[in-house]
Amino acid sequence: MILEQLNKEDVLILAIETSCDETAASVVKNGREVLSNVIYTQIALHTKFGGVVPEIASRKHIEKINQVIEGALEEAGVTLKDITAVAVTYGPGLVGALLVGVSEAKAICFATGLPLIGVHHISGHISANYIEHRELEPPFVCLVASGGHSHLVTVRDYGEYAIIGRTRDDAAGEAFDKVARAIGLGYPGGPKIDRLSREGNPEAIPFPRAKVGENEYDFSFSGLKSAVLNYLNSCQMKGEEVNKADVAASFQKAVTDVLVEHSLHAVKEFGFDKFAIAGGVAANSSLRAAFEQECARRGITFYHPSPVYCTDNAAMIGVAGYYEYIRGVRHGYDLNAVPNLGL
Ligand code: KG4
Ligand code: ZN
Repeated sequence: MILEQLNKEDVLILAIETSCDETAASVVKNGREVLSNVIYTQIALHTKFGGVVPEIASRKHIEKINQVIEGALEEAGVTLKDITAVAVTYGPGLVGALLVGVSEAKAICFATGLPLIGVHHISGHISANYIEHRELEPPFVCLVASGGHSHLVTVRDYGEYAIIGRTRDDAAGEAFDKVARAIGLGYPGGPKIDRLSREGNPEAIPFPRAKVGENEYDFSFSGLKSAVLNYLNSCQMKGEEVNKADVAASFQKAVTDVLVEHSLHAVKEFGFDKFAIAGGVAANSSLRAAFEQECARRGITFYHPSPVYCTDNAAMIGVAGYYEYIRGVRHGYDLNAVPNLGL
């Protein structure tokens, strides 16, 4: 079906993402249309350890990668012959996990002669916004909040980024995961805190909103995390019962307040009128609602991907890969996994 709808000039990117605990592949047409998005999530495997175990993640990627890629091609109704280029996340992330995707992409390109394009994971997260908002074009400001990153980024053009704020310590998602563990919700914490918060009072406990020294756009979440742990300890020592839903809601409100305040201040100061969010934490319902409300109040157009494009997926890598392809970026077979790759 889809094959017949393809034009000669269509650019089809086969994208691969294995930077953490999702083995994912996707076929993206002309940078905006997702023909397939296959995700094998390893979450269940890591849950019993309370977090991602890198060695287990790498091994599972190896086991699943071929199946996931075949699934993505099949779902899109194409074969490797229809593909224009292969895009793969080469950093940042877990080195062993990244290596599986990078080696696979190189092997496919070597066997088929297709061009190879290495993609930055964060560029992928930001580009997820292009999938469902065809009208969105740079320039805009994007908040990337995931398990490993909390970055405030200006997107001057496709693939052109400048980081204007970052976390000084924990990433926002990491704080969600740690607080969830402390109140016994398990991994991954974000979605569980999101759900439990709906039954709690966000004003119940006055957790701190950290201000960070010289850079007003930087974030800090370790103080907030400690405040939650101290609160739990003091309740325990006093023999008081903890209302977990109130803790979750109050913590989530503290994170949301800081993210909204810093981000929208930056949008105004840098003179932008469009703002987007990305990364796993962008799936948070209270964060989305707060941005929705505050952006409307301040006359800023707000963009966010559907939850499935917020957490790790390969479609976002296909979109970012398309714009790299258009810019003429090509990588050689010496492309390596770079765990701490800068944006
Ligand atoms: O972007 P992502 O899938 O992986 C990284 O690149 O890190 O983000 C995963 C993070 C985890 O910390 C998870 O707890 C958080 O995103 N997360 C959420 C929600 N869904 C996922 N945090 C808050 N609310 C959510 N609904
Ligand atoms: Zn991610």
